[in-house]
This record gives sequence, C-alpha cells and structure tokens, in this order.
Amino acid sequence: MSAAHGKVILLGEHAVVHGRPALAAAVSPGVEAVARDAPGEGLSLHVAPWGAVFTAGDGTDLGRGLAGLARDLDATGARLDAVMHLPGAKGLGASAALGVACARALSELRGVALDDARLLDIALAWERVFHGNPSGVDHTLAALGGVGVFTKAEGLRRVATRAPVVLCIGDTGERSSTREMVALVASALARRPAATEKTFDAIAALVRNAALALEAGDARALGELMDLNQVLLSSLMLSTERTETLCRAARAAGALGAKLTGAGGGGCVIALAGQREGEVRAAWEALGVPCARVEVGA
Ligand code: PMV
Repeated sequence: MSAAHGKVILLGEHAVVHGRPALAAAVSPGVEAVARDAPGEGLSLHVAPWGAVFTAGDGTDLGRGLAGLARDLDATGARLDAVMHLPGAKGLGASAALGVACARALSELRGVALDDARLLDIALAWERVFHGNPSGVDHTLAALGGVGVFTKAEGLRRVATRAPVVLCIGDTGERSSTREMVALVASALARRPAATEKTFDAIAALVRNAALALEAGDARALGELMDLNQVLLSSLMLSTERTETLCRAARAAGALGAKLTGAGGGGCVIALAGQREGEVRAAWEALGVPCARVEVGA
C-alpha cells in the first residue's frame, strides 16, 4: 500500500500562486493506493469510498491525470485501487494526495525508481490537470509531509514546531472550484495590479510571522495572524457569508483564530482551537456543521 498526505494551509493560500510563501502542514491519513497488473487493459483507477472507476483518457480530469501517469511510469495494463481518507474539493489537498499515492503505487508495481524530484515532477503534471496553475504546495506536502513554509521558487522549508497544533476543520457545505478561485484572483491582479500585489505582500508578511510564532509555540500570535489573513482573503473576494459565520462562531467559542483554508469560495474553515476544542465543536454543531479534528506538527 502506498500513501500520501493531505494538507492544510495555515496561512498564505492564493498569494503562494503568485510567488509568496505559504505556511502549510500535512494531514494524515490522506490517500492510500495499491496497483496491480491488469494485462490487456489500459490504466484504471477505482476510488473508494466514491465507488467510481476512471480510466486513462476517459475524458474526465482524473482520466487525463491517469493518462499522464501511464505515460510517465510506463503503466498501461494496470489497475489502481485508492482509498480516500479526505473529502474532495474542500481545500485539503485530496487531488494532489491521490496523484502522489497513485504514482508511488505504480512505480512500485513497475519497479521504476522514483526519487523526490521525479515524484514531484510527475505529481505537478497531475495537479495541472485539476488546477491549471497550481503553486505546488499541495503535491509537495502530499509527497514530503511535515510542516513548512513553501514557495514556488524554493519549495518546502521545514518549520520545527514547538508543540502540536490542534485545528478544528469545519465544512461550509459550499463546493468551490480551485481553478475558478485561482482565476478570480488572477483577474483581480490584472485589473488592479498595484493593490493586489500589496495584498500579496501583506499576506507574505503574515506568513513569515506565523512561521516564527509556530516555532516559538506562540499559539495566540498564530491565531491573530490567521484572523488577519482571513481579512485579506476576504478583501480578495474569496470568503462567503457561510465562511464568515463559521469563523465568527469559532472565535466567539474561544478559538484563537479562524480562516478559510485552500481555495475559498466555500470549502473548509480552520479554527485554531487552543484549549477550546469542545466549545468550537459545539458552536459549529449548533450551526449544523460537523467538526473534524486534525493535529499537525506533532
Ligand atoms: O483548495 P486546494 O486544496 O486546492 O488549495 C488551493 C490553494 C491555492 O493556493 C488557492 C492554490 C495553489 O495552487 O496553491
């Protein structure tokens, strides 16, 4: 069984597409995959718990991703079985984790050596099918795990966390498309370049401070920086009413900070729960939102 991590972006989504840093952490378990020979067939992928089957070149995004894997890993005549432990399209890096787990499973089956650099290249090609212009943070965390500051130019710089960070993850129930949200920000950048670049720079400053706060074990500072990041994301039109409602409810319940995570336009909200995990959970459940708990940087 080959595995890959999901990820949660603590701060810096979208700005990271435009060269700024993002602070992100791996979430496990992410996706597990196993490959076996299926002589005479193409390359197929059976995904649990969706109960869905995709084949290389079937016209879907997953089919296009599989066609790339079949080419890169000489992997026609194989069947992949994957188990998703992450919900899709919620900002938790499910598609990247699926690509990395499948690439690992196929390389094992075919005996193709896959060092990190080659794996990252293959997974980036996979991500391009889904996202158009991915920063690379998702597939890098999916492959390498851990907690760190990611930039397009330098990849992942690991951050040593002083204490594990407990995050509550709440699903707004609003489905969003990363591709569309990334395009929305690109159009804001084209229309108002100076103001948008300034927003990206402000986010970058928050990310650098958040990495220091994480290293120092200063949860209060980290939470404040997350709140500030949410204001800037909302100024880029990436928040929704439901997102704001969940953030406000988490803060009122005693969370140290709360923000959207990933593409925005719905998707998931993260709250830095501190000592108030039970209260945040109860506040969200009162709004009909189940709360998932992840611990990162353990
Ligand atoms: O929604 P997700 O998990 O695909 O995360 C997207 C993060 C962005 O910064 C918006 C895009 C990217 O490629 O970094």
